[in-house]
Amino acid sequence: MAHYAVRESPPLRGEIPIGTSKNAVLPIMCGALLTGEDVRIENPPDLTDVATLCSLLGACGCRVRRESGALILRAQSLNNPQDEEDVRKMRASVLVLGPLLTRLHEARIPLPGGCAIGQRPIDQHLKGMSALGAKVAFDHGGVTLTGRLRGAVIYLDMPSVGATENLIMAATLAEGTTRIENAAKEPEIVDLAAFLSSMGAKISGAGTSTVTIEGVERLHGTSWQPIADRVEAGTMACACAITGGELLLRGARADHLRSLLFKLSEAGVHIQDTPSGLMVFGRARQPFEIRTMVYPGFPTDLQAPMMAVACKTPGTSVFLETIFENRFMHAAELARLGAHIRVENRVAVVEGAARLTGAPVTATDLRAGAALILAGLCAEGETLVCDDVGHIDRGYSRIEEKLSAVGGDVRRVAAS
Ligand code: UD1
Repeated sequence: MAHYAVRESPPLRGEIPIGTSKNAVLPIMCGALLTGEDVRIENPPDLTDVATLCSLLGACGCRVRRESGALILRAQSLNNPQDEEDVRKMRASVLVLGPLLTRLHEARIPLPGGCAIGQRPIDQHLKGMSALGAKVAFDHGGVTLTGRLRGAVIYLDMPSVGATENLIMAATLAEGTTRIENAAKEPEIVDLAAFLSSMGAKISGAGTSTVTIEGVERLHGTSWQPIADRVEAGTMACACAITGGELLLRGARADHLRSLLFKLSEAGVHIQDTPSGLMVFGRARQPFEIRTMVYPGFPTDLQAPMMAVACKTPGTSVFLETIFENRFMHAAELARLGAHIRVENRVAVVEGAARLTGAPVTATDLRAGAALILAGLCAEGETLVCDDVGHIDRGYSRIEEKLSAVGGDVRRVAAS
């Protein structure tokens, strides 16, 4: 596994190509299980989460091929995975549940355990599948769902992204009409619905809190380019807000990043939406308040990168994390670099403009790892971000190359 050596860097200048969205591609890959025909996914990001899901889809009987910048999936024959290891490795694996159940009328996965950023239960996924007519049984650390699915009205207790995606996929091949109320509205859900529609699914309302799916008998193959990664784009915008400079985030979409862009503007960073992507100019100069919320609120995945920005910004910035119960672990690591942060339950208060000095720190989760690399860009001397578990590679493809290309002093070094 890699570590990252980061040194204080000049203002970042140049262009960063934004990759295909991890959080869009993972559900779309699971959606490929809904047909026996070829599904071609263009430009999948080079991430370990994608590799892990490829391995899991393979274990489900799906043929996985890579062909010049595309991933081709063919789930002609389909089965439940025998080896549960890949399911355990990655929370998003739960998204095979809907497709397996709706096609095979039986699905089994091990129950995901708690993870670094919270408990992350799957009760809303199961409640929805049960409303669609599945019998749910727990045994030997796993959950088995059986039954032919019929359309139903499902009310989600909270707008879970994963549950909304799983239920949309399950309902595409259910008999009759399904309505999901209090659905999540993230752009990745809109992309998944558009992808499924290109396979012949009948879905309306994706991107609003009520999604309606009319079941069809079968879906066919398709070719799809998923959306650009708004979290990668947001992270790079935060890097610019820390060092100053001028970055073009090629392919980034302003309409998917409104909440972040408003916050950066409030902080004094200039943003320009151009046909090639987003231009970001200058560093953050004023403190800000952030409350993470479901889309279109401020994304929890950008809370840690924005905390790195707050460490260097004069004044007191305040963070309220409402989505995950344990997502401030980066605060203690940032403090090792000299940041002044007080955390009380779900609130973190950052006294900015601290003098940061490099130190060895630990990437406690994916976005925390990215935040530490960003903080290293403005810390005197060398910051060594230790990532023994490989969190950063799960969600950022060659982050060190992308930052180096615009003047960031970031190197990937072998773990000792
Ligand atoms: C997705 C994203 C992740 C992002 C998160 C919130 C992917 C692959 N991952 O994760 O990057 O941080 O959305 O925007 O797209 N919950 C329940 N019961 C459930 C489901 C969720 O209580 O059945 C809770 C979770 O514990 C959490 C909250 O709801 O507190 C949000 O979870 P959810 O929206 O489901 O996130 P994911 O789909 O796992």
